Amino acid sequence: MSKNIESHLTEERTFKPSKEFAKNARIKSMAQYRRMHKESIKKPATFWAREAKELSWQKKWTKVLDWKAPYAKWFVGGKLNVCESCVDQHLTNGRANKAAIIWEGEPGESRTLTYRQLHREVCNFANVLINNGIKPKDRVMIYMPMTPEAVIAMLACARIGAVHSVIFGGFSADSIVDRLEDCEAKAIVTSDGGYRRGGVVPLKQNVDDALKKYRGIETVIVHQRIGTEKAPVKMKRGRDAWWHDESAKAPSTHKAKAFDSEHPLFILYTSGSTGKPKGILHTAGGYLTGTYTTCKYIFDMQDDDVYWCTADVGWITGHSYITYGPLANGVTQVMYEGAPNFPDFGRFWKIVEKYNVTIFYTAPTAIRAFIKAGNQFPEAHDLSSLRLLGTVGEPINPEAWMWYHEKIGGGNCPIVDTWWQTETGAIMISPLPGCTPTKPGTATLPFFGIDAAILDENGNECKANEGGKLVIRQPWPSMLRTIYGDKKRYRDTYWSDYPGQYTAGDGARTDKQGNFWIVGRLDDVLNVSGHRLGTAEVESALVAHKAVAEAAVVGRPHEIKGQGVVAFVTLKAGNKSSEALNQELRNHVGKIIGAIAKPDEIYFAPALPKTRSGKIMRRLLKELVATGEITGNITTLEDSKVIQDLQAQIKK
Ligand code: PRX
Repeated sequence: MSKNIESHLTEERTFKPSKEFAKNARIKSMAQYRRMHKESIKKPATFWAREAKELSWQKKWTKVLDWKAPYAKWFVGGKLNVCESCVDQHLTNGRANKAAIIWEGEPGESRTLTYRQLHREVCNFANVLINNGIKPKDRVMIYMPMTPEAVIAMLACARIGAVHSVIFGGFSADSIVDRLEDCEAKAIVTSDGGYRRGGVVPLKQNVDDALKKYRGIETVIVHQRIGTEKAPVKMKRGRDAWWHDESAKAPSTHKAKAFDSEHPLFILYTSGSTGKPKGILHTAGGYLTGTYTTCKYIFDMQDDDVYWCTADVGWITGHSYITYGPLANGVTQVMYEGAPNFPDFGRFWKIVEKYNVTIFYTAPTAIRAFIKAGNQFPEAHDLSSLRLLGTVGEPINPEAWMWYHEKIGGGNCPIVDTWWQTETGAIMISPLPGCTPTKPGTATLPFFGIDAAILDENGNECKANEGGKLVIRQPWPSMLRTIYGDKKRYRDTYWSDYPGQYTAGDGARTDKQGNFWIVGRLDDVLNVSGHRLGTAEVESALVAHKAVAEAAVVGRPHEIKGQGVVAFVTLKAGNKSSEALNQELRNHVGKIIGAIAKPDEIYFAPALPKTRSGKIMRRLLKELVATGEITGNITTLEDSKVIQDLQAQIKK
């Protein structure tokens, strides 16, 4: 058992929501939670249908769930336009002039879009897409900074039934190519650039580089975020057009047509255990029901809340908890373009104070960076508007939890530690803020309709405090429907360990109260700053370099990032290890994948530790980078001197 897990098990500090919070919350007591959870597991169709009814449907479903494992159809026969629930409905429910998005750019400018204005922008851009020949089910790639236009582009796709695939702005041109090829996108929506830590990320330039390799794009629409002086762009005639020019030609009214509940909504790429990212496919009705419902109960969104999720729209958190869930709830939300530490580590707290943020959702990696930067930053701001805090993306260490609770929450905001995945679409395990007793480090209990369990190798349920695989035993509306274009990988990855049950790929245990403690990934996937990264992706980027013969990549604990990336590299004959080559390889990985994948450390080795049958023994490398020692059995190792050499290097 690792030290980390032991410390979780001995965690006795328990925090209960205040009476005042509970009084106004939707779920006010554990008895209410337990009763509703029990009913929702016994009769999931009844629970989810009740929630789905709160959305706008143009035609009601005839059957809630059609489940032929591992393929689910939710709200069969139902028809809706996702955009109507997120935008149009608020024009007639009293929220037309309510702020939907309060945006702040990194340089400091601010812009507010009411629901009425958002509606106009989305309708206008939907017409721009139509004018450019985009049809239902066409794939549109979105590669934009954190501006309202990114959300507008997503919603406009949804409105016309096109399938968006958002790519995080930190990904490189090569990563764009892989994803374009996989989903055979027809159009790209991008920006001239985006501000990040005072600099400009050249997004359009990256798109141009990608389009030298992928020829299937007919249209590139470019939003001008920066301007020609700082972000000069070349526009290719017949292919590229400015957003503002296209917008001026298009009407601002658009009648939303209904699509089938199972109509594809988006594809989002995430890392798996091979070098090829997986295109996770989500569909309209179920996904919207899941994100809407979780926002309502877990963030307890009320009409006077100001909600802020600090994720980027390029990740699932940005999809579910910036674009779809919050807007379907008609909340006012803050959106911020830039880095948390620009111009200094006070930026987030300055924003909380300025806009009176009440619900704040961020990642443990950010919290750890804030702790390191010092208390003077939050202490300089009035954070008393906050009433609820959330975390996502990785296990939160108890120290970070306590700091968040005391320094940001002033000791009286519940913290919802939310466990979920790109694949699950919506939060699966989390406290409910008005009732669940929380402990630093656990995501606590399954959400309504979520039948989570921990199983051993034989499929038996583990006892309390016994580690096993986290599974979900029943389908849920926002579950992925498939891996785009690869049904076999979908079945093999998620549904083959225990037929009919979803394997999340995480190791976990429950404690005596039934709280779920997530330990981390069981596959070769790293979690770097809350972002998933396949070791195989980094390895294939490294071996694509002309000097590299072989590479093995493992994670090691990292103070801020959660996990750091460590690479072991053997060079082709005629190449010599050097500091310059080390740097070159790091940059090479950055160029092929994106900056988040750059190894923190690279070790050169004459050979990698292998079994006699030639398999790289990653287990040894992992232990070596984590502890500097090897305690396990190395009798299967072909050449034990390899390990001694590496150990000496790491010690140095
Ligand atoms: O290992 C779990 C971890 O992040 C993985 C999912 O990553 P991704 O699909 O990129 O989605 C991240 C945002 C939802 C999971 O398999 N993870 C996510 N949230 C938590 C977590 N680990 C522990 N606690 C969490 N709250």
